[in-house]
Amino acid sequence: MDIRLETANLQFLDELYRIEEECFDEEAFTKRQLAYLLTAHNAITLAAKDDRNIVGFIIVQVEITDVKFGHIITLSVVQSYRCKKIATCMIKEIERLLKQRGIVECRLEVREDNYVAISLYKKLGYQRIGKLERYYGSKHGLYFKKLL
Ligand SMILES: CC(C)(COP(=O)(O)OP(=O)(O)OC[C@H]1O[C@@H](n2cnc3c(N)ncnc32)[C@H](O)[C@@H]1OP(=O)(O)O)[C@@H](O)C(=O)NCCC(=O)NCCS
Repeated sequence: MDIRLETANLQFLDELYRIEEECFDEEAFTKRQLAYLLTAHNAITLAAKDDRNIVGFIIVQVEITDVKFGHIITLSVVQSYRCKKIATCMIKEIERLLKQRGIVECRLEVREDNYVAISLYKKLGYQRIGKLERYYGSKHGLYFKKLL
């Protein structure tokens, strides 16, 4: 299967929103939030495309607290394209783009019962650094980080 990665922009909003809704149900970003994230000055975005459609996407924001880091805001792959390493490819490419900008840390939050995503992040070398009480309504979140 031939999958290409390219920058995701507002042109793709409808398609990205459909994927976001399919993957996150009630936790999905609204269309307006997605539009904001896609156009944020500090965003790095990627869409994974087969020869016809977008089959996954990732949005990362570059943030500064004590250090400058990439923050994975959302990541999803459509159901029928999962387990083909598409998420792995998108994260690796994001990490490469961050390093290219001199950013050597990447962080993310994940719901504590999202075992698939947790397995993905651990496989890629992310380490749990904290627990976020009731970060997802009644569900807790886990905070992960990786030094790139
Ligand atoms: C999480 C998600 C992005 C993974 O996408 P993907 O392209 O299928 O992931 P990959 O094929 O790159 O998988 C890499 C690793 O993730 C884990 N993984 C992926 N699918 C899995 C499954 N169904 N069961 C268990 N582990 C799984 C495995 O560790 C896998 O490594 P392996 O193939 O060597 O076993 C996808 O399942 C998804 O969109 N889920 C809904 C949205 C979501 O939860 N996003 C993350 C929010 S923090």
